[in-house]
Amino acid sequence: MPNQNMQFKLFIVTLVLHCTTGEYFKTKPSFVKTCFKSDPDFDVCSRQAVQQLFDALGPGLPEIGMEPLDPLKIPKIRILQGEGPVNVNAALDDVTVTGFGKTEVLSSQVDGKTYDFHTKVRVPKIRIEGTYDLKGKILLIPLVGRGLCWFEPTNMTIDIISDTKLYNKDDFVFFNVTGAHVKYNIGGLKLRMNNLFDGIESLEESTNAYLNANWRPVSESLRPILSKTIEDILLGFMQRLFHNLPGDFMIGDVKNNWPSKKIEKKV
Ligand SMILES: *[C@@H]1O[C@H](CO)[C@@H](O)[C@H](O)[C@H]1NC(C)=O
Ligand SMILES: *[C@@H]1O[C@H](CO)[C@@H](O)[C@H](O)[C@H]1NC(C)=O
Repeated sequence: MPNQNMQFKLFIVTLVLHCTTGEYFKTKPSFVKTCFKSDPDFDVCSRQAVQQLFDALGPGLPEIGMEPLDPLKIPKIRILQGEGPVNVNAALDDVTVTGFGKTEVLSSQVDGKTYDFHTKVRVPKIRIEGTYDLKGKILLIPLVGRGLCWFEPTNMTIDIISDTKLYNKDDFVFFNVTGAHVKYNIGGLKLRMNNLFDGIESLEESTNAYLNANWRPVSESLRPILSKTIEDILLGFMQRLFHNLPGDFMIGDVKNNWPSKKIEKKV
């Protein structure tokens, strides 16, 4: 658990997060598989449906203004974190993330009352590349530098729980995804930061070697930052997708399962 005293701020500026109200899908697109909550095999159907969604999101859906998920471009990530083992003031610019196109959906469940989604996925290999500007401490090592960098987490499994509300538009029911909570594990991490200590070569090499040799504690110390980054990216994607894709296309009997309280309010 993150230390209570730990001050932690993260700002992500990404093209996928800003919401425009475009045309939504009024007929079911071919990449959508419809499942029924009343089907005893709903979870099996739902896993396949979410897999098809990820596969379609890989190259992007320009018809509803969605950028590709692979490669994912993020103009800027700013990280400010004081106290604790990680003490970082960093910026990552012109970030390119590759690998989410190979996302494998392990399971998908939807709560019958709240419609919260619980999804487990595995991504074999992710590569994050960009330009960093860093001043701070990781594992108590002071780090200063700016230059090109890359990070490569392998065998990442991600548990995603999303908070969902339903709303009506025209004759459709839509999912309003209001929050995303993420827990992840990785099987390995390789990284490289060029020009550490402004290019004092011996220090640059030895520090990179040290961080790679200690990838487990390094990745643990970055967990709050990484979790928040993944949550923000996923939330942006899910909001954009589900404001543009009627829930009825995903869950055929979504209306029948509507909690009675909400129906009373609406009628
Ligand atoms: C990936 O990680 C999971 C547990 O998180 C493990 O069960 C699985 O064997 C790993 N797969 C590979 C290819 O390393
Ligand atoms: C979605 O939920 C948020 C937070 O509760 C709310 O502010 C927003 O108006 C909702 N959007 C729609 C379209 O219902």
